[in-house]
Amino acid sequence: KGVILVGPPGAAKKNKKKKPGKGSQAPKLKDEYCLCHISTGDALRAAVAQGTELGKKAKAIMEKGELVPDDLVNGIVGEAIDSPQCAKGFILDGYPRTVSQAQSLEKLLKEKKKNVNDVVQLDVPDSILEERITGRRVHKASGRTYHTKFSPPKQKDKDDVTGEPLIQRPDDTAEVLKPRLGEYHKHTSPVLEFYKQKGLVRRVDANDKFDVVWERIKSSMNTKK
Ligand code: AP5
Ligand code: ZN
Repeated sequence: KGVILVGPPGAAKKNKKKKPGKGSQAPKLKDEYCLCHISTGDALRAAVAQGTELGKKAKAIMEKGELVPDDLVNGIVGEAIDSPQCAKGFILDGYPRTVSQAQSLEKLLKEKKKNVNDVVQLDVPDSILEERITGRRVHKASGRTYHTKFSPPKQKDKDDVTGEPLIQRPDDTAEVLKPRLGEYHKHTSPVLEFYKQKGLVRRVDANDKFDVVWERIKSSMNTKK
């Protein structure tokens, strides 16, 4: 089983707690279908935090909202896909983002005798993304994602369930959102065309409440439990 989530920044790809965008929806999918969750963005942020060679190369690029070179992200996915958690299947969040990455992935999956069943396109108008992105808050240790307005932390006004503080991603500003969106339209839209030709794209209207979007994702997919 293999699922790819594609959507602009803030389309709701991850949220360990609720079920919104790409990050917001990925953990739900992971639990429902027993898949591993591979987020190249999360992996890069971890590398930056640890100060690895990869992290040193990626940091400034990410802060500018540009794309990290293909070979670096291909390497992340190549390693992650071999982990035991991925034996039953995988969900890719934020990868592939260029046609070249999609071609590398094809090659990799062929070697590993794995395949992609669904490419879920989370469709949201650009106009609502700024509010989602600038309101996002993250619990660094767990990756739990909140939103100051749409999914505020329960316990206190600004803390995670553990009581630990939440942070804001350095690229979650209105200024950096612009180049991020630009990269999305320029490089990632062609990835959708690539998969459309293979008949794999399931377009989901993600301009709705978390739970509504989640139900739409589930019913759009060929992947079964
Ligand atoms: P990455 O981490 O992948 O970020 P992104 O693609 O910009 O996506 P986001 O994480 O911003 O969006 P999301 O859809 O996950 O949003 P979420 O669900 O959290 O990449 C970061 C950087 O790393 C890139 O810019 C690049 O430099 C580099 N990179 C990563 N992968 C790469 C690759 N393959 N190639 C090259 N470079 C790469 O939702 C956002 C907020 O909205 C949350 O607060 C959430 O609570 C809220 N929300 C979500 N859904 C809803 C809803 N339905 N209603 C109300 N609020 C909602
Ligand atoms: Zn994300």
